[in-house]
Amino acid sequence: MCGIVGYVGKKNAKNAVEVVLKGLKKLEYRGYDSAGIAVVCNNLLHIRRSVGKLCNLTDKIAQDPISSNIAIGHTRWATHGKPSENNAHPHTDASNSIVIVHNGIIENYADLKSQLKENLKDFKSQTDTEVIVHLIKKYYKGDLLDAVKKTLSKVKGSYALGVICKDDPYTIICARQEAPLIIGVGVKENFIASDIPALLTYTRDMIFLENGDIAKITKDKIVIIDKEGNEQNREIKTINWDPVLAEKAGYKHFMLKEIFEQPRTIEETLRGRIYPNEGKIHVEEVKLNKEDVRNISNIYVIACGSSYHAGFVSKFLFENFAKIPTEVDIASEFRYRNPILSEKTLVIAISQSGETADTLAALRLAKSKGCQTLAICNVVGSSISRETNHVVYTHCGIEVGVASTKAFTGQLTALYILALDFASKKESLSKEDIKKYLQELWEIPVKIGDFLENAQELNKIAKLFDQKKDFLYLGRHVNYPVALEGALKLKEISYIHAEGYAAGEMKHGPIALIDESIPIVSIATNSKVYEKMISNMEEAKARGATIIVIASSNNREVLTKSEHVIYVPETDEFVSPLISVVPLQLLAYYISVNLGCDVDQPRNLAKSVTVE
Ligand code: G6P
Repeated sequence: MCGIVGYVGKKNAKNAVEVVLKGLKKLEYRGYDSAGIAVVCNNLLHIRRSVGKLCNLTDKIAQDPISSNIAIGHTRWATHGKPSENNAHPHTDASNSIVIVHNGIIENYADLKSQLKENLKDFKSQTDTEVIVHLIKKYYKGDLLDAVKKTLSKVKGSYALGVICKDDPYTIICARQEAPLIIGVGVKENFIASDIPALLTYTRDMIFLENGDIAKITKDKIVIIDKEGNEQNREIKTINWDPVLAEKAGYKHFMLKEIFEQPRTIEETLRGRIYPNEGKIHVEEVKLNKEDVRNISNIYVIACGSSYHAGFVSKFLFENFAKIPTEVDIASEFRYRNPILSEKTLVIAISQSGETADTLAALRLAKSKGCQTLAICNVVGSSISRETNHVVYTHCGIEVGVASTKAFTGQLTALYILALDFASKKESLSKEDIKKYLQELWEIPVKIGDFLENAQELNKIAKLFDQKKDFLYLGRHVNYPVALEGALKLKEISYIHAEGYAAGEMKHGPIALIDESIPIVSIATNSKVYEKMISNMEEAKARGATIIVIASSNNREVLTKSEHVIYVPETDEFVSPLISVVPLQLLAYYISVNLGCDVDQPRNLAKSVTVE
C-alpha cells in the first residue's frame, strides 16, 4: 500500500514535479486517500499535500506552482492516522530541511518516539512514519546517507523510503525493507518508484532493490549499499511491458479494459508452454523433473483475495489431474496456524503483485520448514517471485483496476498448465486426456472473445438488480470458488453485500435468508453437478428468489428454471471457471457503473496490500 516516486535530473531537463505526479498517477492503485510531493528549490524545501485523490494535489500545485530538478512524492493508503493533510506524506523535520516519503509500517515507532523526548513538540502527524525524519535529522551531520543508515539501524518494520535534503538538491537517498522499491535508470536522470508502471514512460531499465539495501542516487550515479554495508552492483533488468497497456485505450474504466484483455492475456500465458496437437507441456521456469514431482507428498496453496479463489480452483486440478492431496489456505491464516509441512510438501504462493505481505510471510514460513516453493506471479522481479524456488509468470501485463480480473484468469491458466504438467510427469492422466484438456485450454481465448461480443447484455441484467441490497452466489465443485470470486467482485466495487456459497450448503443456513428481495446468481454450466445445481435453484425459486443463471450455450432447460439466463460457450467442466467468471466480472462492473461507484479505485481498498 502507498506508492512512492522520486526523480533527480539535470537542471531544466525535466520538471521533477511533472515526472513525479505522472508516476504517482500510475501508482494510485496502491492507495488514494491523500497525496503529496516535496521539491528542493533555491535551497529551500517546498511541500504540497492534499487529502483525497491525486487530482486534488494536482489542482493545488496548479494554483501554487513549484518546479525543480529533484522531487519525491507519495500517494497514501492510511494505516496509522486517518487520511488528513497532516498525516499525508511527505513528512519533514522541525527545521524543514529533510523530507521523507515512506511505504510500510514502522513497528517500533512508539518506542523510537519516546526516545526523542526533546523533539516531541515537533511531531505534527499521527503517522508511524514521522519518527523517521526526526531521527534522520538527529543523526544528520552533513552526510544524508550516513544519517539514513544510522536511523534505519534503529528501525523495526517494513519500509520503502525516499529522502531528500535542502542542503543537497542533487541527491535522493532511498532504502528498502519488506516493501517494494525500484530504481529507474535513465540518461542524466534517475528515478525511484514502488512499482514499474510509474516509470515506464521514462525508462525500461530498472534495478530491483533487495531487502536491507540503501541507495544514493544522483542524476549520473547510483550507489547501492547492502545490509552488510558493502557496495553492490545490482543487475539492471529491462522491462518489456508496453506502457500503452497502462492506459485505458478508449475504455471507460481500466477494469472493463482488463476484462476485455482476457482472451489475449490467457493466450499469452499459454503460449510457448502448451502444445495441444502433440499433447506436450513445457514450463521452462519449473525445474521439477518426473522424480521431483513424484516425490511431492502434498501441496499447500497460499494466497489472498482473488488469488486465493484462483488457488481454490487448483485444489480440484491438482487432486483430479495429478492425484496430489492439496490444501488451500488464506495466507494470513496459514502463517499463524502452524501447518504440518515437510520437505516433500510443495507450497504454491499465488500473487498478482508478488508483494502481498501475508503471502510473502506465509511463503517464508514454508521455506523455513524446508518445503519446495513455487510462485505464480504477474509482476516480474517482485519479492515473492524472487524468494521462491520456482516461479511461473502470468503474462497479463499491468493490471490497474483494483478488482482483479485478467490477473485472476491468468493465475487460473498458469495453474491449469502446472496441474497438467504434474499429471503428465506422474502419468496420472492418460495422454489422450492431457491432449483433450490442452485443446480445451487452447480454445478458451476464442470462446471468451465470442462471449465478450455481447458483453452489453449483462448491463441489461445489471440495470434490473442494481438497487438490491444483498446477493447470493451459488456454485459447486470447480465453480464454487468462482461463486466466491463473483460475490467478491460485487462487494469490492459496488459495496453491495454478496455471499458466495457452495450450493449444497444452502440448506444449512443461507436458505433462511431467501425471499423475493434476494437475487441468486447460480453457476450451472454443463458438468456432473449440473443436476444438483438445478435442484438447488428449484429450492431457492420455491422460496421466492429471482434466479440469474450462468449456463452452457446448448442448454434450454435452464430457461424454465430461472428468470435470467446468461449463456457462456460450452467447455469441459474442469476448464469452465475460466469462462464462467467472465459474466460475473461484467455483472459486478455494470452494477458498479450504474450506481456511480468508483470502479477502478473502490473505497478503502488497495491493489497491493503490503501490510499485514
Ligand atoms: C488486494 C487486491 C485484490 C487481490 C489481493 C491479493 O486485496 O485488491 O485484487 O486479489 O490483494 O493480491 P495479490 O497481489 O497477492 O494477488
